[in-house]
Amino acid sequence: EHTMNILGIETSCDETSVAVVRDGSDVRSSIIASQADLHAKTGGVVPEVASRQHLEQMNAVIAEGLSVAGAAFQDIDAIAVANRPGLLGALLVGVSAAKALAYALRIPLVGVHHIEAHIYANWLVDPRIEFPVVCLVVSGGHTEIFLVRGHGDYQIIGRTRDDAAGEAFDKSARLLGVPYPGGVLIDKMARELHGNTQAVKLPRARLGADSFDFSFSGLKTAVANAVADPANADVAPQDWAASVQEAIVDVLVEKTIRAATANGARRVLLAGGVAANSRLNERMQAACNAAGLPMTAPPPVYCTDNAAMITCAGYYHLLAGRRDTLELDTLSSERL
Ligand code: KG4
Ligand code: ZN
Repeated sequence: EHTMNILGIETSCDETSVAVVRDGSDVRSSIIASQADLHAKTGGVVPEVASRQHLEQMNAVIAEGLSVAGAAFQDIDAIAVANRPGLLGALLVGVSAAKALAYALRIPLVGVHHIEAHIYANWLVDPRIEFPVVCLVVSGGHTEIFLVRGHGDYQIIGRTRDDAAGEAFDKSARLLGVPYPGGVLIDKMARELHGNTQAVKLPRARLGADSFDFSFSGLKTAVANAVADPANADVAPQDWAASVQEAIVDVLVEKTIRAATANGARRVLLAGGVAANSRLNERMQAACNAAGLPMTAPPPVYCTDNAAMITCAGYYHLLAGRRDTLELDTLSSERL
């Protein structure tokens, strides 16, 4: 039987990533050149710096993606690329490379929505997921609960009204003096040093008993006030980390489970960078077990930005007969 090798490219923010995936889930290579060290100096991503770095890395990362896969250009059947949403200059580097490859190799090109790809990271783990599912998407810019009834059929049933969950982690981290990228370090401190989740009292915004929406801006203010409060002077760093993390995880878990139950979901999926959080995984798994719901979450490397997820989403688009032309555009924002 014919197999489909897709080469995928992701450059929407601060990772230059290329993957070669066979038939949607067999990851033959997944190269992720992170710019985190570069952006740590400025405490966040500077778009111009990110674009320039993508440009410097792009060709080498493509070459490495092919060589790790043991593949030549001739073995690639199609190109998938993240073309929206994201930093325009950053996206343009990946999209230009993808067009050049598709044109030179005379193979199909397909543009992929970055958030859709985060959801599809779950299909890398299990290509036989049965619909409908509820997927919690939690990243640096997004916090949404999706009801997914079939491939390409998304309905947002809850979303943040202000900050994303990743921003809540990163902004709290900054207030605690934890360096960029804050989320992953908060997770590590709380876990490895056994932080006390009850050390600092922090609010949980529930927004009404029936709401599936989130609000994290109050947490940021509460953390700032708690840090300034002399009563908390002796709270250890790992206890701060665990308390902040728990406040975020509590609402994510409660609302996702309620959304899944209310909508007859057959499974709960996690997606996006914050889905790499070990406490979120542990608590969601326990809550799913209690509710009798199976759960899938991608391994951490496929939660944060990566090209394997782009390639996987591209596979399902190509199967459905979708193709893009060399006119494929980049968009800084677009709802899924
Ligand atoms: O999906 P992603 O890599 O990029 C975006 O599309 O935004 O998500 C990045 C976000 C950042 O806010 C980062 O702090 C957070 O994911 N993050 C984590 C963890 N790993 C990444 N937050 C909490 N715990 C983690 N282990
Ligand atoms: Zn992302």
